Amino acid sequence: MAKVNDNYLKLPGSYLFSTIGKKVNAYVAANPDKKIIRLGIGDVTQPLVPVVISALHGAVDEMADAASFRGYAPDLGYDFLRDAIARCDYQARGCEISADEIFISDGAKCDSGNIQEIFSVDNKIAVCDPVYPVYVDTNVMAGRTGTYDPEKETWSDVIYMPCTAENDFAPMLPEKTPDLIYLCFPNNPTGAMITKSRLQEWVDYANKTGAVIIYDAAYEAYISEADKPHSIYECEGARTCAIELHSFSKNAGFTGVRLGYTVVPKELQVGGVALHGLWARRHGTKYNGTPYIVQRAGEAVYSEAGQAQIKEQIAYYKNNATYILEGLKAAGYNVSGGVNAPYIWLKAPEGMTTWEFFAYLLEKANVVGTPGSGFGPSGETYFRLTAFGSYENTVEAIERIRKL
Ligand code: MLT
Repeated sequence: MAKVNDNYLKLPGSYLFSTIGKKVNAYVAANPDKKIIRLGIGDVTQPLVPVVISALHGAVDEMADAASFRGYAPDLGYDFLRDAIARCDYQARGCEISADEIFISDGAKCDSGNIQEIFSVDNKIAVCDPVYPVYVDTNVMAGRTGTYDPEKETWSDVIYMPCTAENDFAPMLPEKTPDLIYLCFPNNPTGAMITKSRLQEWVDYANKTGAVIIYDAAYEAYISEADKPHSIYECEGARTCAIELHSFSKNAGFTGVRLGYTVVPKELQVGGVALHGLWARRHGTKYNGTPYIVQRAGEAVYSEAGQAQIKEQIAYYKNNATYILEGLKAAGYNVSGGVNAPYIWLKAPEGMTTWEFFAYLLEKANVVGTPGSGFGPSGETYFRLTAFGSYENTVEAIERIRKL
């Protein structure tokens, strides 16, 4: 008789953004006349830049001709894209990463969920608190997290590293020693950024303890401060302890197109086994390659025109971030993030839980945000707003909140 993977039954509720979507849809159904402004999930709103559209059209035309038609893509990615990434995202910054250490995928969400598969189920994970829920939920599905405490909203076998205003929302080294460490900078959800020296401490710690860091750099394009690291490979020794995840969603608006990549350096070994080979085996077996037309669109992002056009689009969202940050500060809110990231992290008003604040904003201002507690217990009194709306909606949302 078939049995289900009962780790799935341990998962409390539904995926955070599905829960929010259901609540918002119910409100909209009951109040069809209200204009809702969605600053909840970090989904982009601006169209793909012209150079990407033209690359997509060109690639579609190639598919119409038997001479240039492409079938299955190479499982680890086309060389033209892997080369462009290695050159522009790494070698140009002085990071020693080669094209064959880059694995093309359909996005950082899938990679951040799948990467745990190549590690033993006995490994102990450490996560920031608050944290992007995918890291924890996928480890729950794998049976790596122990039992859930609904009161504390924590898992018994997960090491939580609180990220609070006191530590500038960057975690301190944990007391218990983890095997896998998830870090995300610029951070989702707090919008905080880590300094290079603090990131170097993590790299040194991982090399000393034999832990592996899974470094999610999905929001790297939003870094404004010159002294902040764009990649963990800017730190000495990261090639022997870190995997890095990247997305085209937030820098080039590919949320609906789907493209990302993961870097696994060849020196990175666990118990004498190279993780590069394991991830290649997993990718080759379970993934059939990102579509040719999407990889050509990704390549266009690295052209001179592509770089200029995405820079302009990122500046548009960064301007929204500044508007939210300054607008909420002026309205008396305690806010952070938004400088090196498209997320603004604000304290819910005194006496309100974060879900109460969610309902209050939805009903009184018709603005959707994300309750901080959905990202972990340390998010309980916080709330996240995204800068990925249109400028007009962003301005209107802040005006509505200021008037409350
Ligand atoms: C978020 O809102 O946290 C992100 O958009 C979710 C994602 O990238 O999967």
